[in-house]
Amino acid sequence: MVFDVVIAGAGIIGSSIAWRLAQRGLRVGLFDSRTMGGGSSWAGAGMLAPGGEAGDDRDFAQQLLSSLRAWPDFMRELSEESGESIDYVACGALDFAFSDDELAKLGRRAARNESFGVRVERLNVPEIRSIARDLPEGLAGAYHYPDDAIVDPRDVMRALRRVCDRCGVSVFEGCAVRMIDTGGNGVRVATDGGQVCAEAAVLSAGAWSGEIEIKGMPLPSSPDSYPVKGYLVVHELAAGTLGPIRRREGTYVLQRSSGRVLSGSTEERSGFDSSFSEDMAADLEKRAAALVPALRNRARVDAWIGFRPGTSAPRPAEGRCGDSALWVAYGHYRNGILLAPQTAENVSRGIIASLGRR
Ligand code: GLY
Repeated sequence: MVFDVVIAGAGIIGSSIAWRLAQRGLRVGLFDSRTMGGGSSWAGAGMLAPGGEAGDDRDFAQQLLSSLRAWPDFMRELSEESGESIDYVACGALDFAFSDDELAKLGRRAARNESFGVRVERLNVPEIRSIARDLPEGLAGAYHYPDDAIVDPRDVMRALRRVCDRCGVSVFEGCAVRMIDTGGNGVRVATDGGQVCAEAAVLSAGAWSGEIEIKGMPLPSSPDSYPVKGYLVVHELAAGTLGPIRRREGTYVLQRSSGRVLSGSTEERSGFDSSFSEDMAADLEKRAAALVPALRNRARVDAWIGFRPGTSAPRPAEGRCGDSALWVAYGHYRNGILLAPQTAENVSRGIIASLGRR
């Protein structure tokens, strides 16, 4: 089999890159050891939320903001081309504080976020009430991030599947890439289905990227890749109950248009341990109910764990490895869904330019 580009990993990142390349006429082979979007992309909550995720790295914050701005057009184009509806809600987010100390801490974070260009405003309790119902007792105030949003990543993956099929991307599920050799002209790729040649390859296998052997050159600054396990629990409330995403420290609660309420999360470095702890889920439910009283004593309708694509580098590994035919797009950690449009644009444009295509 010969392709212009082989992509190792068919999560939201690899699939979005595949779509962009195929739109521009390239022959793309998209490989995944499991199913398309069946790993972290299936498990993600779909937070498009620089306000909650920006941290203290200005460049990373800019990256998050730029991808957030790309989301409405990306979503519209994907939905139109696929004919699939995508649940995207520009709902904003509220960081809750229950004491003056907590409010002061959130204020410092808000000031830093604002200096990076993230829109944020401080709200008192009556102001919070004007945009959110069913508030917990004891609120001292909140910081409102009006531009934070959410999307259902499963809708996005369903749509990406369709557009990839329509654009002629060859999708190989249950077919792992084992090795990418950049030693000659282009790349030689060993897969479970045999050897494949291409002009370029993309390593976008998320938390599983470290399992793929790279020959012919070392990875640029050798950013590592490992899973960070997280839990999500789901409840049903009347649609529109929640309004903005609610956050406090490591807990967030968001509501899909259907009414489903997702609460996250946890972080564990325990390898690919897929066991499910009732205690962890129950603790998460308790934390969520402290932010949304209507969740108290409400029966859980679903729950799962997922593996975030972690890396110890401060930002995802993204771009070309030296002047080789290997491109990387992994390590998106808590922001793979948010960063997909921008990463797909950057990597696909770079590959097309490097191959001398238009
Ligand atoms: N982006 C939210 C999380 O990773 O839990």
